[in-house]
Amino acid sequence: MIVFDSAARLWLLTTPSSSYALRLDENDAPRHVHWGARLTLEQALGISEEYHGDHDPGGEELAVEGGLRFAAPSLTVRYGDGTRGVEWRYLGHTIDGEELRIDLADRSRELRITLHYRVFGDCDVIERRATVRAGEPVEILRFDSAAWTLPHLRDYRVSHVTGEWGREFQLRRIDVPVGETVFTSRLGITGHHANPWLMVDAGQATEEHGDVWSAALAWSGSWRITLRRDPLGRASWTGGFGHEGLTWRLGPDEELATPVFAGLYASDGFGGTSRAWHSYIASHVLPAPDAVRPVIFNSWEATEFDISQDQQMELAELAARLGTELFVMDDAWFGARTSDAAGLGDWWPNPDRFPEGLGPLITKVRGLGMKFGLWVEPEAVNPDSDLYRAHPDWVLHQPGRSRTTSRNQLVLNMARPDVAEWTHAWLDRLLAEHDIAFLKWDMNRPFSEAGWPGHPDPERLWIDYVRNVHAILDRLRADHPDLLIEGCAGGGGRADLGMLRHVEQLWTSDNTDAAERVAIQYGFGQIYPARAMGAWVTDSPNTVTARCTPLRYRFHVAMSGALGIGGDLRRWTEDEMVWAKGLVEQYKRIRPIVHGGAQYRLSPPEAGTTAVQYVSADASETVVFLFQPSSLPRGKAPIRLTALDPAARYRDEATGAIHHGAVLLSHGLPPLLTFDTTSELVHLRRLA
Ligand code: GLA
Repeated sequence: MIVFDSAARLWLLTTPSSSYALRLDENDAPRHVHWGARLTLEQALGISEEYHGDHDPGGEELAVEGGLRFAAPSLTVRYGDGTRGVEWRYLGHTIDGEELRIDLADRSRELRITLHYRVFGDCDVIERRATVRAGEPVEILRFDSAAWTLPHLRDYRVSHVTGEWGREFQLRRIDVPVGETVFTSRLGITGHHANPWLMVDAGQATEEHGDVWSAALAWSGSWRITLRRDPLGRASWTGGFGHEGLTWRLGPDEELATPVFAGLYASDGFGGTSRAWHSYIASHVLPAPDAVRPVIFNSWEATEFDISQDQQMELAELAARLGTELFVMDDAWFGARTSDAAGLGDWWPNPDRFPEGLGPLITKVRGLGMKFGLWVEPEAVNPDSDLYRAHPDWVLHQPGRSRTTSRNQLVLNMARPDVAEWTHAWLDRLLAEHDIAFLKWDMNRPFSEAGWPGHPDPERLWIDYVRNVHAILDRLRADHPDLLIEGCAGGGGRADLGMLRHVEQLWTSDNTDAAERVAIQYGFGQIYPARAMGAWVTDSPNTVTARCTPLRYRFHVAMSGALGIGGDLRRWTEDEMVWAKGLVEQYKRIRPIVHGGAQYRLSPPEAGTTAVQYVSADASETVVFLFQPSSLPRGKAPIRLTALDPAARYRDEATGAIHHGAVLLSHGLPPLLTFDTTSELVHLRRLA
């Protein structure tokens, strides 16, 4: 899958349906040659000879400073004498199965740089990262994981998501301007307003056709992707962790390794691109991809901060009646946490609310046949807490500066080994002493005054913090192998490939209004798979938007991800309970198809009717969701299905109706009735 031509000093990486080639130029700089359709070595060598020379050396694999380079660098270094930049010297390479390492150094300074590439036999994603090792003291001012260069295209268009709290993952497609466009988070967390991935096409790709180049970063802190289109009509991007203005000092023999920045070329449009990311995440990112994502009940929206043992037990009884598999007690179970103003950091059961600890509730939940889960927010602290009173120096802060609170809380400096160790210890103890199968790990604010007084290189915290959070999650998983974890940050504020290496699923948004959720889920699903998309059915009217939606609609929207229930079941009518129970049963039947199948977006939210189809791995079953928020007639077209066998017949599992594959492919399912917030779920099974 990886070959090297020593005469041309060119490497060719081959994936099932794409190729990637790079070479060293006469100055040993690693240069991009090709990223796209499959090529033979001979063909790749042809590009290298005919297209790249002095007039156009090709983009750099890791853009550095120095010489006549003026674009945004991937790597910026500064030595003690003020010298900057890199002059490349090739040292050698190793090919180890699916991995390529190219070792380079600076010609005159003691700095080694290694570029890492990894390909897979079962998908077209290429993982790239880099490491630097210092032989002399050096300041690293910028260190991206990789730069990716696109071929010359007639035009360039970028797809990405923007958002805010309650409105994450809003998909946008815009022309790439000549210049540099920066997608970034400086929050210390991945952020609600942007997400570290992009897709670029020539402006002509559609859902199922056309060339799309994309990349996603495996990092859960501040990040930056700089997309550059030059006036000559070329485009490239560089991306990685951290944000501008931060310095990492490396001493002799110290190494800095970037996270993975994975890239993908696909020729089957945005849908093909998303499916390739979904299967890469399932096969190579998620720690337990096949673990069944249980139907969750979460008490947050039902109770917020006003909780008690009896009330949680009552909710658990009702949740069990619906077929819930895991009961999660959210915030407010610990310390003096009766509002968001106090108690965060004091991780023992609130003695007024749980006088005998968590034991009785857990026993009750287990007795009802459900597993038990708990909300935690280990990275933050209320100033009004015993933890903060004992350790005011444990938070991110700078001497003489304000300690800016957000949601009445400060951020614990998880980069500090003692803080990370303490955090791991209380979580480990909690899990060891209780029958807890699930943690919802929340993080409800960005960094501010991000200092580390007394540390000689305080800005390291931006990296070490995230690494330590990932490491704690890993340790907990290793020591508690059946534990499932949900990542959350005030909704979808920390969703990325970095988190997905350590958790089963992500909480998508605090906005649980099903009508709003359709677009949020549509954007989330561009990269991340349905099995990792936490989705709850809550009450109507919705607590965030006050919109009223039918129970069935709310269920259908949540059933297209990892279903949870988050409403106040004490207020649901008997009819609603019966309906809900039936829908949970139906969900359990379709769950393997939604979570393990391939996802096809048949129609986007702006079309009026959003339609999403999931096809099981063996193509014998398919599930189609249709959501129509408004009765306006633009939503009245029939929805044509895809990925079916035209010669086969399919039975509707609910009605028993038989459909011909050819008809479903050419004419589709009949249009929805014209009511506001109408939805449909169709489960078809191929007849033998
Ligand atoms: C965040 C989460 C919510 C809930 C609250 C609890 O906002 O996103 O789901 O857990 O915290 O305080």
